[in-house]
Amino acid sequence: MEEQLMLFKVDSITREADVVYTPRHVSKWIIDFVKPEGICLDPCKGDGAFYDFLPAGKEFCELDDGKDFFDFKKKCDWIIGNPPYSIFKEFLEHSFNIADNVSYLVPTNKVFQRQVIMDMIHEYGGIHSIAVFGSGTLIDFPFGFSVGNFHFKKGWRGNTRIEMGMNQIFNKSNSNTTVK
Ligand SMILES: C[S@@+](CC[C@H](N)C(=O)[O-])C[C@H]1O[C@@H](n2cnc3c(N)ncnc32)[C@H](O)[C@@H]1O
Repeated sequence: MEEQLMLFKVDSITREADVVYTPRHVSKWIIDFVKPEGICLDPCKGDGAFYDFLPAGKEFCELDDGKDFFDFKKKCDWIIGNPPYSIFKEFLEHSFNIADNVSYLVPTNKVFQRQVIMDMIHEYGGIHSIAVFGSGTLIDFPFGFSVGNFHFKKGWRGNTRIEMGMNQIFNKSNSNTTVK
């Protein structure tokens, strides 16, 4: 019984840490940067920070609305959003199975810390671009790990473009903030 209670607590804490809403000026900037087109899916819509800016023909999943991403099997041109971090690997795996382009805003260590993830990326294609935002706190996330937007592209074997997204975001959204 105690064990069950413990598991429930751990599950609730993990789920809470997974629900991090993206500020709209950041999601808008990312969409303008990666330029998704065709059939676009936000796999975990939350309150729509990404979904609302996607071009027509868009679709969404969101567990809280009874639409589990893992039940979505249709092929897409793009999957774009801010996935739950505790199941990032599973999200990425399913995304790679159904989409030609996958764009995820995540703590950068989620991508680089595990060889199994690097292997999955290499098997799928490669990283087309990374937009770096620096500490999560700079984009109002409740943690200080560095955050970036990764565009994974099926079959991609070219170079990876790295953009310091934070400079542009702060210049546009907050003229009082200087990034040195
Ligand atoms: C990090 S939040 C991001 C919310 C939103 N995309 C944003 O950027 O503001 C992750 C979201 O994933 C949802 N989620 C978790 N597991 C899911 C699943 N299996 N299918 C669909 N949504 C899921 C959570 O309910 C939460 O809203």
